Amino acid sequence: MRSTKHNQMQVGIEALGMYVPRYYLPLRDLAAARGVAPGKFLQGLGQEEMGVPPPDEDVVTMAANAAREALAVVDTDSIDTLMFATESGIDQSKAAAIYVHHLLQLPKYCKSFEIKQACCGSTAALQMALAIVAQRPERKVLIVASDVARYGFNTPGEPTQGAGAVAMVISATPRILALEPEWGAYTEDVMDFWRPNYLDEAVVDGKYSIKVYLKALAESWTQYVAESGRTLAQHDRCCYHLPFTRMAHKAHQHLSKLAGGDPADVTLLADSLQYNRRIGNSYTASLYVGLLSLLETAATDLAGQRLGLFSYGSGCMAAFFSGVVMKGYRKHLQPDRASVDLDTRHRLTVELYEAFYRHELPRDGRRYRTPVNETGNFRLSGVEGHKRLYESCAPVARLVPETPRAPVRRVGGGYCIA
Ligand code: HMG
Repeated sequence: MRSTKHNQMQVGIEALGMYVPRYYLPLRDLAAARGVAPGKFLQGLGQEEMGVPPPDEDVVTMAANAAREALAVVDTDSIDTLMFATESGIDQSKAAAIYVHHLLQLPKYCKSFEIKQACCGSTAALQMALAIVAQRPERKVLIVASDVARYGFNTPGEPTQGAGAVAMVISATPRILALEPEWGAYTEDVMDFWRPNYLDEAVVDGKYSIKVYLKALAESWTQYVAESGRTLAQHDRCCYHLPFTRMAHKAHQHLSKLAGGDPADVTLLADSLQYNRRIGNSYTASLYVGLLSLLETAATDLAGQRLGLFSYGSGCMAAFFSGVVMKGYRKHLQPDRASVDLDTRHRLTVELYEAFYRHELPRDGRRYRTPVNETGNFRLSGVEGHKRLYESCAPVARLVPETPRAPVRRVGGGYCIA
């Protein structure tokens, strides 16, 4: 087994936050509109609802909202680095992290940048964060993973679309999950899913992408086993990257076969699939939405249990790694998230979903104000002179009161970044 500094101290996830758009489309309605049997989406893909961002929501606002939740229990002055993982970037040069840094008023000495490798960008950020904290244990790293998954109307990928963000604070005082030092990684140049700069929607070879996902799982697992010497049975639960939740079943069956031992028990995956089933693919955030779903919805206390985590990013890079759930982790999570954040969303008609997705910001530099929809504490208020304008706002019509949290630093109301 590899011996690193990690072995002497624990490094991992201290705080987690999540944000999903306030609108959704039931996939039963999409199936009716597209003339498809609903069973294909609900059972075949394992998806029930699709999160849909309104025109005044983007990866920056979703990330800032998720980070606000994660930072509610962390001293923001301790944040040394902010890494923003996304594949729905809003600028070719300026990192989305800089906007989030401003919206959350993070310390000026905090390094802020963007990371990309499809859905695996967040996991690449996580590995870098572990190295930063291992080197200087007093430092904390904020990772935000935020994406809008779009394939286009009437495409096979359409029912797997979604949107959302997760924020994680990585530190030497992990209160939720201590990460273990052994990682299996895998890279191969493949064209299973990509998005050229001139397209708003991804190009995908869907069936091929599933094959490559499973191959990358086998390869990264094999390397992880070579590093750790562990068997699959030594992992109490597994969380997989979730482009659609049935993919986790395919992955777990594939891995169980490869690892030998008992046949796959897919019932153990159920807790990790609950949120994604209602949000859809959120690319970089997807694996960590699954992790939150497991930790927040599992009926039993998972403290002390080892989780196996698999991250896949098309193109492709993958990683298999593990973590041990910390004692008392539940105190730092939101067990009522489904009723507060998911059940209170607004149901869209197919026409409104299409109208939200057809909305385009002007590209000629003129001043434009986005229509006000329900968002979290931040919204994209418009564009002017080719600059995106963001503002903080009070969340509208939150039907269930927020769980009381430690006080957060207020961000002044109604300002714009220009
Ligand atoms: P498709 O080809 O239209 O669907 O699109 P299908 O014909 O394969 O049917 C899907 C499942 O529904 C099948 O089950 C059918 O049998 C079943 P399976 O054979 O797989 O077990 N089915 C039904 N079940 C119940 N009742 C019915 C019924 N009819 C059919 N009536 C596809 C599927 C996934 C290809 C498509 O949605 C797609 O292209 N999605 C986008 C790509 C994707 O998600 N790939 C996953 C791996 S790549 C990845 O994870 C990376 C990614 O997140 C991007 C990144 O890294 O940035 C995508």
